[in-house]
Amino acid sequence: MSFHNVFAVLMKFDVVIVGAGLAGMRAAIAIAEKNSRVSIAIIAKTYPIRCHSVCAEGGTAAVLDENDSFDLHAWDTIKGSDFLADQDAVEFFVRECPKEILTLDAWGCPWSRTPDGRIAQRPFGGHSFNRTVFAMDRTGFHEVHTLYERMLMFPNIERFNEFFLTNLIVEDNTVKGVTAIDLKTGELVLFEAKAVILATGGAGRIYGFTTYSHTVTGDGMAVAYRCGVPLKDMEFFQFHPTGLVPSGILMTEACRGEGGYLLNKNGERFMKKYAPERMELAPRDVVARAMWREIIEGRGLEGDYGPYIALDLTHLGEEKIEERLPLIRETAMKFAGIDPVEEPIPVKPVAHYTMGGIHTNVNCETPIKGLFACGEVACISIHGANRLGSNSTAECLVFGRVAGERALEYVLKRDFKSVSRKEFEREESRIFDELLGRSGDESPYAIKRELNETMDKNLWIFREEKGMKEAVKKIRELKERYKNVEIVDKHRGFNTDLIQTLEIGYMLDLAEVVAICALLRKESRGAHYRLDYPKRDDENWLKHSLAYKTADGVKVDYLPVTITKWKPTERRY
Ligand code: FUM
Repeated sequence: MSFHNVFAVLMKFDVVIVGAGLAGMRAAIAIAEKNSRVSIAIIAKTYPIRCHSVCAEGGTAAVLDENDSFDLHAWDTIKGSDFLADQDAVEFFVRECPKEILTLDAWGCPWSRTPDGRIAQRPFGGHSFNRTVFAMDRTGFHEVHTLYERMLMFPNIERFNEFFLTNLIVEDNTVKGVTAIDLKTGELVLFEAKAVILATGGAGRIYGFTTYSHTVTGDGMAVAYRCGVPLKDMEFFQFHPTGLVPSGILMTEACRGEGGYLLNKNGERFMKKYAPERMELAPRDVVARAMWREIIEGRGLEGDYGPYIALDLTHLGEEKIEERLPLIRETAMKFAGIDPVEEPIPVKPVAHYTMGGIHTNVNCETPIKGLFACGEVACISIHGANRLGSNSTAECLVFGRVAGERALEYVLKRDFKSVSRKEFEREESRIFDELLGRSGDESPYAIKRELNETMDKNLWIFREEKGMKEAVKKIRELKERYKNVEIVDKHRGFNTDLIQTLEIGYMLDLAEVVAICALLRKESRGAHYRLDYPKRDDENWLKHSLAYKTADGVKVDYLPVTITKWKPTERRY
């Protein structure tokens, strides 16, 4: 049975942005503010106000206080990154963050305020100054709504909600557009473009226990990788210390920033053993490892869903919790039946952030001409081996703007290059004949479950060779089985079966890269901790990994880290 369309749906825009979260919307606005004639499409598989950025809770880092400094923010970020961040990129980043905070302030973002009316800032892990700007514990939600309202002002930004990215069109190392399924009709649409900005977020759903929305399946990363773009530093996955048990919903670091404690079953604030100075506000890799050690050494509290750590806010009092952490209270009550005013919240470390991503330079340019990436999908790299909390929303704003501005410069000098009809037909046939039309005896959901189990078991906080080899083998087996999946629903409109199967295909590719890069990196750095190589090894491993898709499988190359003025030292907190 053929599922071909007779006529392709064709759209043509100067710039196509894929992803309508913080980074994508910021990019669209940056272009439209500078040029009202450039046509911009922003396409996303959800509605913008349902993007995963709304789940960001704790805040956005920026130097606003005269006693803070750009050098201090840069140093905290670089030390937090375990010296894998590119220091030129970090120096640029920290100088741009305050501008974004003030820009959003001018656009109406309801930042929390000090009693005298200034923008309030709270402590966050690994930052040695209170520099996290916030809007209660709903920072991402308010930032997204501020950008969305702003974006609506520009007639040259056209929104395509519920369009799912399937491919990039690349010829002669130049991007010419993207293909996407219109979820409502099930048609494959060709968006021709002079430039494409990928802003599709991370790949967190390769894990089972995670803070990520179900939509965060690494689409942009996988599509770029399949087109030959290298993925950088994919072995570095962040585990946030405090995921609510059992759902994994984020219990923001702001709980600890506002004074919350982590307790083991003996009621001990155990962080004093692991990070005596910074305690609960050490960087996430340090805190997550400490918690996991407490759990595996039998000092976790016992619950219906296994051992956990107690996040105690009771001493903060109801008034402060209501003022600063109302979402946390509501979520803990609804999803765990616990009122944090009365009793500690059950938490444990949870997959939270993809430090790696599409290899770009500080201008958000990828190795493909006209293809840009920004936000979590990209690896610039400012986070290195471990991101500091509240540097992510800041990154989306700063580099969303940079990507928009660079893409604008690029398109003003370029003409459209037409896409051959053959290319489009090949993509249609791949999706609708080969995948939707196929009969098979594998369930995509069983494959996804097994993938999640493998990642949670073998590529979690503590890693070692045997487990990672097992994971590589398992992922390869799952990739083989994926060739035999059958999509039960054969309809075109809102075929969530088809979309999820495509997403699972993306995740298999990305998980393989994560596992292989992790296996190859024989040291411990930031979030990548190997029991068999427990030390950082700057002599051999102070370098970025770059993973390429080749006909013979994943090929990994390395790239030096840019060091400007901060020499790697031992990290102590
Ligand atoms: O804990 C949090 O609020 C998360 C912040 C972040 O990932 O930057």
